[in-house]
Amino acid sequence: MGRLLDSVDLTTYRAARPETSSNSQAFSGRMYDVDPDTGFFPSQPLRPLSGEFSLWERGLVDARGVLKLGVDRGQEAFAKCALGEQWRQRLRSWPVVDARKLGDKVRTLRRAHYVLTCLLHFYVHSLPSSQVQGQIIIPRPLAVPLVAVSQKLMLPPILTFADIVLWNWEFIDPEQPLSLNNMRYVNVFSGTETETNFYLLSAAAELKGVEMLRIIERVVNVPCPTTQSAIAAIKRDFEELVRVIDELTIIIGEASKTVHPNTFYWAARPWWNGSDAAAPWVFEGVPPSSFDLGGASAGQSSVMHALDAFLDVDHGLKQTRQPAPSAENRRSDTSFMEKMRRYMPEEHRAYLAQLQKRHVRDLVQRVPALREHYNMTVAALKKFRDIHIRIGTLFIISQAKSTPPASMGSVEVEGNESRSKGTGGNPVSTLLKAGRDATQRTLLRDE
Ligand code: HEM
Repeated sequence: MGRLLDSVDLTTYRAARPETSSNSQAFSGRMYDVDPDTGFFPSQPLRPLSGEFSLWERGLVDARGVLKLGVDRGQEAFAKCALGEQWRQRLRSWPVVDARKLGDKVRTLRRAHYVLTCLLHFYVHSLPSSQVQGQIIIPRPLAVPLVAVSQKLMLPPILTFADIVLWNWEFIDPEQPLSLNNMRYVNVFSGTETETNFYLLSAAAELKGVEMLRIIERVVNVPCPTTQSAIAAIKRDFEELVRVIDELTIIIGEASKTVHPNTFYWAARPWWNGSDAAAPWVFEGVPPSSFDLGGASAGQSSVMHALDAFLDVDHGLKQTRQPAPSAENRRSDTSFMEKMRRYMPEEHRAYLAQLQKRHVRDLVQRVPALREHYNMTVAALKKFRDIHIRIGTLFIISQAKSTPPASMGSVEVEGNESRSKGTGGNPVSTLLKAGRDATQRTLLRDE
């Protein structure tokens, strides 16, 4: 089914996808747009829009290299300030293109979401602070088609991880398959190598995830999992999974080799921010609605959610597990991971929901011979989150106290405290530690 997305429209696609899959049915990512070779990535890049929609594509090409962050006070930003204002004025004067004419093809709609949300973030974050008082009005030519496309795709009208990582690349050599060495990221807001390398880092994790998904699918599809031979096969799969998670941990642990923390924090990350209470975004020409407007985060990567769903990590603190959550754990946003799913493509959300219903942790509880291997896998994921906390500390918490790159001049900034908040406004350390502790509580203990 993953490969068919090129030709199918939404209605056909939704009709073909099983709403629920019983445990006796084979579980396959193909039914949920998960490609056996490229995982959550489409196997081919999304094609640019044509006809009257090429207006948006051209607007995006024009934005690159011209628009700088509104808070940027550097010389280059100053020199480009007038060009930026012209770009925004042009966008405001665009016709409101009827998004219904895009049709129903999933890939076309995804491309439209990608282009329109990139335009949205270029528009909002390049506004000079003098124009950001009270609300931020998203002009009608952008707001109306973006909301229409998002509603069709059941995605929020805002930049998501899928837009910047899964749908933002082209092949270097179209004759060769997708790999880290054969992909080029196209829309890089800040134009920095750090931003490109962050996308590549995320892509490395996504592609590692392909191996992980294969193992997960094998385990949940084992017939009669309580037989000796099945137990032996599942144990081997858990060992393989530990190896893959350890590799993921290395990938993230080495982030600072290619992603520069100070540039990441000051020049790249602000482009992905969503609406905030101080200056909420208002979509002109669209009936008022409570959209999810949190912004893009690697927390929306379906790969990590798949591991959590498979192992049954309880981020929501709904189960009684040991050790009991600390006061800090309880203060964290326990619905964060659930919310992040709302920013994922509908098909991937459905994949995770179905995977969760396979209840592998319950199976392990019934088959004590699997416990040690299951626990080894949970421990590997906990180690990943330990390292991820270190990365979050280095890239966010420490940088919130740092000075911006000299090229940005004297950036206008809020206080330290709000600057070390994660997507959704939670203090980063509280949120990441809560995830780590929820993973620790997943370990099965002796009764
Ligand atoms: C420079 C690299 C990275 C930094 C600085 C970073 C930072 C953060 C921060 C601050 C959060 C809190 C939520 C937010 O603000 O969005 C977060 C959450 C998260 N990130 Fe990362 N991240 C990085 C790379 C990655 C990669 C490559 C992955 C994918 C494997 C990933 C997976 C996640 C997940 C799944 C969450 C949700 C919380 C959790 O599972 O513990 N991150 N990250």
